[in-house]
Order: sequence, then C-alpha cells, then structure tokens
Amino acid sequence: MHQSQYSFTTSPSALVQVAEIASRYKGRQDKLMDVIIAVQKIVPSLAEDVAAVIAREMGLSQNHVYSFVTFYEYLSVQPRGKYMIRMCSSAPCHVRGAKDVMDTITEMLGIKIGETTPDNRFTVETCPCLGICDISPAIMINDKVYGDLDPERARELIKKYIREDI
Ligand code: FES
Repeated sequence: MHQSQYSFTTSPSALVQVAEIASRYKGRQDKLMDVIIAVQKIVPSLAEDVAAVIAREMGLSQNHVYSFVTFYEYLSVQPRGKYMIRMCSSAPCHVRGAKDVMDTITEMLGIKIGETTPDNRFTVETCPCLGICDISPAIMINDKVYGDLDPERARELIKKYIREDI
C-alpha cells in the first residue's frame, strides 16, 4: 500500500455508512465488488480509511481490498466527480472527431483528461471502444450514453450537466 496515494480523509459520518454497508457482508469475499460499488456512491474516493473500514467490517485484509479496487480500472483511488465523463478514444470515434469533442469538454470544464474539477462535479477520462461505434463519436456520462457528438452538441450537453438540467 502506497501511503502517499492516500492523502484524502473521509468524514466520520460517511465512514459509519461505509461500515454499515460492509458489515452486511461479513465473511463474504465474493460480495466485495457489490460493497465497493455501493460505497462509491457515498464517498468521493476509495481512500485508505475507507478501505480499512471495508476490510475490518468484511473480515478481509486491507491489502486485499486495495488490490481488488485497483484491479478494476474504472474504480480509481483518485477522487472522482459526481459526473464521470468517459470519452471513447478508439479509432472509429477518433476519425469522426472525438478529439474536437474532448477538447471542447475539457476546455469548458477547465481541466485536463484524468482530472476532476475543483468542485468535485466532473471527472474526464478516455476509455477504449464503448461498443457504440455506429453513433461515434461517443461519450458516457455516468451510465448514460451520448453519441453523434460534435463540439456544438457536446457544449450543449455539458451545459445541461452544469445546470443539472438532465
Ligand atoms: S470506437 Fe468509439 S464507441 Fe466504438
């Protein structure tokens, strides 16, 4: 475990909720993924204190919990925004203007790919093919898919998310 990666602290009330969720699955290593998904809705990051509580309540080692988390690329140990924007960077989307769409989005939000806005609302990442090449260039925002984007459409879409008009 790399201590330097864990500079985030979690509120005591969030840790109580994490403990409450994890304690339902004591001894159920097979339920760790479900617990992590549920916990991610409560905490901004899967920090060391969160992993420790999950491990304690489920009766697992903290290293096991951390290794499990990092195994899944999309479960980052970095803080993530309320809205996770994933931009497909595979060839079909790329040739249909994905870079212009991405540049528009990152410019609007004032962050680079891989970063989260200071208000913790938006994180932007690239990802491999989303499997919806017929509507490329495409992005996902949380679990919603948006395709046939161009800079103008992307701008309108992000404006809606900024206004939470979605
Ligand atoms: S290449 Fe972008 S969705 Fe398939």
